[in-house]
Amino acid sequence: MKIKSRREFLTAGSTATLSAMLAASRPAFGFSRAEGTKPALLGGEPVRSKPFTSWPVWDERDENAILPVLRSGVWSRDAVVAQAEQRYAALMGARYCLLTCNGTQALITALRALGIEGGDEVITTPYTFVATIDAILLNNALPVFVDVDPDTWQIDADRIEAKITPATKALLPVHILGGVCDMDKINAVAAKHGLRIVEDACEAHLAEWKGKKAGTLGDLGCFSLQNGKQITCGEGGAILGDDEQVMELCYSFHNFGRIRGKHMPTDKGASPILGTKCRASEYQASILITQMESAAAETRKRHENARYLSSKLKTIPGIVPRRDYAQTNLTSYYYYGFRLKEREFGLSRTVFVKAMKAEGIGLSTGLGVIEGGPMYREGVLESTLTSRTFRKLYPQQRLAELLHDDHFPHCEQLVRETVGMHQSFLLGTRADMDDICRAVEKIHQNREALAKIAL
Ligand SMILES: Cc1ncc(COP(=O)(O)O)c(C=O)c1O
Repeated sequence: MKIKSRREFLTAGSTATLSAMLAASRPAFGFSRAEGTKPALLGGEPVRSKPFTSWPVWDERDENAILPVLRSGVWSRDAVVAQAEQRYAALMGARYCLLTCNGTQALITALRALGIEGGDEVITTPYTFVATIDAILLNNALPVFVDVDPDTWQIDADRIEAKITPATKALLPVHILGGVCDMDKINAVAAKHGLRIVEDACEAHLAEWKGKKAGTLGDLGCFSLQNGKQITCGEGGAILGDDEQVMELCYSFHNFGRIRGKHMPTDKGASPILGTKCRASEYQASILITQMESAAAETRKRHENARYLSSKLKTIPGIVPRRDYAQTNLTSYYYYGFRLKEREFGLSRTVFVKAMKAEGIGLSTGLGVIEGGPMYREGVLESTLTSRTFRKLYPQQRLAELLHDDHFPHCEQLVRETVGMHQSFLLGTRADMDDICRAVEKIHQNREALAKIAL
């Protein structure tokens, strides 16, 4: 039978194909409570009624840290920011850290400090949050995309070299969802072609590649400290680096182009280079200092819970958890994701997510990264590449090539198949993880009935 659409597939799946699959299926984990029970979406009892761990987590340590800042009246960048920078650098194993007001500005600043400007190309992944692309475009450079590795969801390092042109100046790997890109291969390509590397580690605080932290594996590493991130102070960003001169350029750019410590005019003026202002505040820094204290233990817990979840979920037909490269000895989950292969599972992703929600487990189909589609389908790319500035800076033919460079099948597949949950779910207990598995199993067992209600 020729299947033309997802709807037709589900109709077909709910008859012949699915009957065969049902006959062959058995409970994956022997969770007898899940067996034979009616899905909550069809009026049964939900697996779970209590909420998962909320995020962010704070206590009196955070309150005690923020109050003195409030009472000091010094709320702008000062000693607390400097202290937080030292601690962040030490935590990550970098020589220097500069805090910024958010991760987007950290990326803009880092690219700028490495000399990226109009006429340059920066290679990155289409499977990211829009801020990665904004940072390249705001430096008047061109983002050039490389498809992802379908297993790890990271940029496919083996495909980078084919995208290098004489205009390529930097690589911008994104350690997406808290995994780590293949930094051995990426560093080798960069060394061979004389390229700089800015790591977008906005989602990968404390993740480790062969024992070294994400964000310390290239020239500069950028982090987001926004509310949902594994280390947060509400809004905030950080740049890590070992090169003092480059880090001083970051500092100057983020502070009106001023030279550090010199607020009075020098012989080249108070602001010898063009800058902006994206400084972190003392409030942000005070919360960051206390939040850093629990970060390692939380990361470890998420890592362990995610491993447990993957070991269980991958036994269910059609569930393919994201995996990491063997060199990633610690994953810092920002989002626990798996691919739902609708045909093998026997249910559409839309119904699966609805059914999970009814069971008390609110999953999403991405976390900003993907919900709206891959980056090359974002309007920002077209409007910027067709802008007056870009038309002046680049040959028309190159702009047209990049605008039409939209064949990234692995990325498209992820956009269609991703299902997952925010990192805070992974801070729960083993019993919480079992609830997630039990709900998935229950839905799988009842997929035929669920598929029917969707039609
Ligand atoms: C991959 C990635 N890059 C950049 C950013 C931008 O960080 P921020 O929201 O702190 O500006 C984020 C987070 O939102 C992100 O997930």
